[in-house]
Amino acid sequence: MCGIVGYIGTKRAVPILLDGLKKLEYRGYDSAGISTLENNSLSCIKEKGRVDQLKNLVDNENLNGTIGIAHTRWATHGKPNKINSHPHFDNSKRFSVVHNGIIENYTDIKKFLMDNGYQFLSETDTEVIPNLINYYYEINHDFLKAVSLACNDLIGSYAIEVICSNFSNKMIIAKKDSPLVIGIADDGYYIASDIPAILSYTKNFYILEDNEIAELTLNEIKFYKNNLELVHKELETITWDASAIEKNGYDDFMLKEIYEQVTSIRETIGCKLNKSLIELDNIQFTKDFLSNINKIFIVACGTAMHAGLAVKSIFEKLCYIPVEVDMASEFRYRNPLVDNKTLAIFISQSGETADTIQALKLAKSKGATTLAISNVIGSSITREADIYIYTHAGPEIAVASTKAYTAQVVLLNIIALYCAQILETISLDEIELLKKEILSLPTKIELALKDISMVQNIAKKIYNAKDIFFLGRGIDYPVAMEGSLKLKEISYIHSEAYAGGELKHGPIALIEKDFPVIGILTDEKLLEKSISNIQEVISRGAKTIIVTNQELKKDFDYVIKIPNIHPYFSPILSVIPLQLLAYYISKEKGLDVDKPRNLAKSVTVE
Ligand code: M6R
Repeated sequence: MCGIVGYIGTKRAVPILLDGLKKLEYRGYDSAGISTLENNSLSCIKEKGRVDQLKNLVDNENLNGTIGIAHTRWATHGKPNKINSHPHFDNSKRFSVVHNGIIENYTDIKKFLMDNGYQFLSETDTEVIPNLINYYYEINHDFLKAVSLACNDLIGSYAIEVICSNFSNKMIIAKKDSPLVIGIADDGYYIASDIPAILSYTKNFYILEDNEIAELTLNEIKFYKNNLELVHKELETITWDASAIEKNGYDDFMLKEIYEQVTSIRETIGCKLNKSLIELDNIQFTKDFLSNINKIFIVACGTAMHAGLAVKSIFEKLCYIPVEVDMASEFRYRNPLVDNKTLAIFISQSGETADTIQALKLAKSKGATTLAISNVIGSSITREADIYIYTHAGPEIAVASTKAYTAQVVLLNIIALYCAQILETISLDEIELLKKEILSLPTKIELALKDISMVQNIAKKIYNAKDIFFLGRGIDYPVAMEGSLKLKEISYIHSEAYAGGELKHGPIALIEKDFPVIGILTDEKLLEKSISNIQEVISRGAKTIIVTNQELKKDFDYVIKIPNIHPYFSPILSVIPLQLLAYYISKEKGLDVDKPRNLAKSVTVE
């Protein structure tokens, strides 16, 4: 989705802005633009296409300003073209604005402004913002006040950067429901919608809250609420390493992130299991509180929702509390039965997914205790929730989520175990055993990643397939769903995931000679049943690929062995060959693995 970068300081802005935009490319975009301010004159260069194309255009210009704003656009209102890309200007070319988010009442504002003589060039919602700011500026001649009045009129979500030709030493930024951070360095202020864009310049950040405005000059930053009441903010320090956002010798971020799972799981486990009793940073539930909870909701989107599905049955087995897993986009509109006896857990790698945030707000308004799980420090979801806890997967750049998923599954398992410990629903011996199994995960992930030649070979054989099925029962079913999603999003091959037992209720009609079927078989208790399902597709000519930790007597086309582990935690290991398979199939097809078509890393619109 759209990305924002900004700079105000003593250095030339253009290289910093372009570098930041490059780092935001992973979010997905279709056009890019830049605006700088020098000697009370605003320049703007924007174009449909990649940041590299923008760079070629910018290189031909002499832009030496030390103040600038920049944007990558992912089209929502109006097609991807130069006119619709950001920055946008007001009619008098006084204000230049970049914007992330969606202005829901833009048609009303546009009509109001047109009635007042304003004209519009683009099809975007954003163009109303500079014009509205200018409308107020014409009345009160106060830059800050004009931005604050305009923000008060906006309904929807926004993160904006505004520069003005009347003020050669000033930038104003504001946000609501779309992130913005301000990095502090010796040479000036670095602004971005995502920390990775500016992480190589500083690790010290202010995080702007909803309905706040920051006024930046070369040597000062002031924070206000929308009504211009001053706000005090604490500086936050990020521990991420800047090298984590480089490829470090891997061909693609996705492959690097698959291999990083050894470390990301180790970091996510951290010290939580070191003592005899499990301790979680930030979460302190009491027995009274948990005994009063009669339902747990786990709500998320895409891969994050699959992480919820992978722990649903474990939560229920360990804590004896019913768990419902829901897609955030459905949950928020279906009036779910949530009350003050509900614990609602929201999972989001980015912490900025619009549907998940809105679902959280709904659950909170109905009295639930809300717990957010995010991978991004200070992300919106952690600010909205009653309690939050982080996965420590490090920055995930590839659009296809891998290390964030396994970190989410591990953390959710630890939370389930922690709740069971407090509720005393399982014995201390059982807790000890499960803790040991979790602690063995990094080594077992390393093993699972050791010899991947079988996966590479399978990818070569099946990359031309039109359709692929994934089958799993019990704990293996959510993994089948995740494997199928991974394959679709980066290889564009149609695929479906089915619970093994469902096959004969319809989908088996599609099986014909050489149809690839991938079976995940890790639960010993369900092994015979699952093998029967695979047998059914073999009889109809399917090519079978099995991911398993079991000793299998039957013949299949390919068997990928993964290390043994307690069945509760098998989704963390069985997903690894599926991530790799999706990756290598995408490579065989010559596709852009990290930036698949039509997708964005962080889905900040509903
Ligand atoms: O940032 P989030 O975890 O909230 O993102 C949720 C989904 O958009 C995300 O998991 C998506 O499904 C991934 N591209 C899957 O690889």
